[in-house]
Amino acid sequence: MKSLLLTIALAVSATYAGITRISNGEDAKLGQFPYQAFLQLNNEEGKIFRCGGSIIDKNWIVTAAHCTIGMAGAYVIVGMVQVDNKTQGTKYVSDKLVTNENFDHATLENDVALLHFPQDIQFNENVAPINLPTDKNEDLVGKKFIVSGYGHLGRDKPKANTLQYTELSVLDDSKCEKIYNHEKFDGTKICAKGEGGKSTCGGDSGGPLAKYEKDNKTLMGLVSFGKGSCEGHNPEGFTKVVEYTDWIKGKMAN
Ligand SMILES: *[C@@H]1O[C@H](CO)[C@@H](O)[C@H](O)[C@H]1NC(C)=O
Ligand SMILES: *[C@@H]1O[C@H](CO)[C@@H](O)[C@H](O)[C@H]1NC(C)=O
Repeated sequence: MKSLLLTIALAVSATYAGITRISNGEDAKLGQFPYQAFLQLNNEEGKIFRCGGSIIDKNWIVTAAHCTIGMAGAYVIVGMVQVDNKTQGTKYVSDKLVTNENFDHATLENDVALLHFPQDIQFNENVAPINLPTDKNEDLVGKKFIVSGYGHLGRDKPKANTLQYTELSVLDDSKCEKIYNHEKFDGTKICAKGEGGKSTCGGDSGGPLAKYEKDNKTLMGLVSFGKGSCEGHNPEGFTKVVEYTDWIKGKMAN
């Protein structure tokens, strides 16, 4: 019985993670987030799931492992901010999903994955890669980063048609440890929270948490999990990308 309850609790948290949208965010303009990918994945049965991703190279997009695990295929649309606007965006079909070998669905450790694209992603003013972080010793606590995504607009609200974004502040891991029992904060995650109900929600998963320094943008986190109702009451967990820069570069080199 005990193990059954545990399984249910994890399934609930995983579901939330898998469906993670931005609540109380703002509409993005075309070209504002040139690294953002709208990601659609399908399982063997053909069921479709929405996630986010970030362009890091002409043939590679990074996302969360809980988005790719068990999936049979994926495509992205880049250079778009409105899903229903057929004049925007270019579609690329992935030929390879690379889920981190050590991804743990229970603890959401190593929640990082890559999508390979055989056709080069064409860069322009609306489509461009984001830098991977390199400084493992950078203290992130107190810093403000921008999260973006096409996830749900709030609990019981529809998925976003227009790309949403908002600002979150990084908190000490201890603030998340108090709230999350299963998802381990061991230095490989970022704990971050918005103000005034700003939050990620279902469908944002795998998307970017980015640092802006003048014109230099760096991918600091990946949307991984949250708890509550997308109302920003609790801080949320993000994969700390700098801990996986070597893994990402190793996969890209092979
Ligand atoms: C669709 O996108 C184009 C290109 O950005 C824009 O000019 C047009 O106004 C958009 N249409 C709608 C209905 O928003
Ligand atoms: C931009 O950010 C990346 C990653 O943090 C860093 O390696 C690079 O030196 C930065 N470039 C500039 C011009 O600051």
